[in-house]
Amino acid sequence: MSNPSLLILAGDGIGPEVMDEVKKIIDWYGDKRELQFDVTEDLVGGAAYDVHGTPLTDATMAKAQEVDAVLLGAVGGPKYDVLDFSVKPERGLLRLRKEMDLFANLRPAQCFDALADFSSLKRDIVAGLDIMIVRELTSGSYFGEPRGIFDLPNGEREGINTQRYTTSEIRRVARSAFDLARKRDNRVMSVEKANVMESGILWREEVSWVHENEYPDVQLDHMYADNCAMQLVRAPKQFDVIVTDNLFGDILSDCAAMLTGSLGMLPSASLGALMENGRPKAMYEPVHGSAPDIAGQGKANPIATILSFAMALRYSFDQGAEAERLENAIESVLASGARTADLLGPEGGKSISTSEMGDAIIKALDASL
Ligand code: IPM
Ligand code: MG
Repeated sequence: MSNPSLLILAGDGIGPEVMDEVKKIIDWYGDKRELQFDVTEDLVGGAAYDVHGTPLTDATMAKAQEVDAVLLGAVGGPKYDVLDFSVKPERGLLRLRKEMDLFANLRPAQCFDALADFSSLKRDIVAGLDIMIVRELTSGSYFGEPRGIFDLPNGEREGINTQRYTTSEIRRVARSAFDLARKRDNRVMSVEKANVMESGILWREEVSWVHENEYPDVQLDHMYADNCAMQLVRAPKQFDVIVTDNLFGDILSDCAAMLTGSLGMLPSASLGALMENGRPKAMYEPVHGSAPDIAGQGKANPIATILSFAMALRYSFDQGAEAERLENAIESVLASGARTADLLGPEGGKSISTSEMGDAIIKALDASL
């Protein structure tokens, strides 16, 4: 059997630096665990625009469709702010999500004990936090039609985006959330604005339908998105799995990420339908962005991207034990006091570089053998 294939799209800003550390980890698994991957690399975002005039070429898109999993770094930067909307770096990312039909975006927010004091919330509110946000990723207001900026007869302009969901779009992401809940604390919180939006009413009805007909054993509750934002900073440990739409999920996952101490810690998996080989279409990426302010300085925290690779081991390659090995290695490195700059508390201290963090994780992996 051939090795599983990975397409690395490091992208912009700190993307290439953090991805360099992931490549070390991939090599480690090949050398030490006989888990070899066929890795190819390509451009996305501003990096692709600079060379090809588009944030994602058709050839790269085709490659992404063929591989077992895509690992993405980050896209965007101030240099590209002036570009036309249609060729902005973010369009490359959104095209990957849409054309691979990666409808379920898993964004875990776990608070590593060693970092509980770095959260903007008090330790006892976040210590031991372990929630999973399932964000719908291919529909809703990010993609709904009509959309655009239009001239009105009275000389004004109007900007339009459409929040639109169908039965099947809601049901499939709801199933992802219920499946995950069964492997965790068996509770799902479905989040919308059914008090003001028809799409929210439909969301609530369809999630409830899936629950009644297919997952009656899982506990399901409903919450309005504004209340959810408040509850996330008031008492985040009340949640197990949160399932919500594309836009609310974007916002709530940043909020949940910060609970854990740093955006530099949060991975994500975007999963679609099963391919012929039984693996889901998949792309793995950190929740953080391209952080242009620190790019190229060796300051970035590679952990979110490395944890995204751990998610790839778990969700694409059925290597849950190896994913745990990697997560434990990271936990032990943090427990030893190693910190990239983003993980220093207000009292400061000494930080290590991006590649020193990667090396420390490799050492901890060695120690796990
Ligand atoms: C995210 C990001 C993206 C989004 C941007 C970069 C298009 O914020 O993955 O959360 O809004 O989905
Ligand atoms: Mg976001």
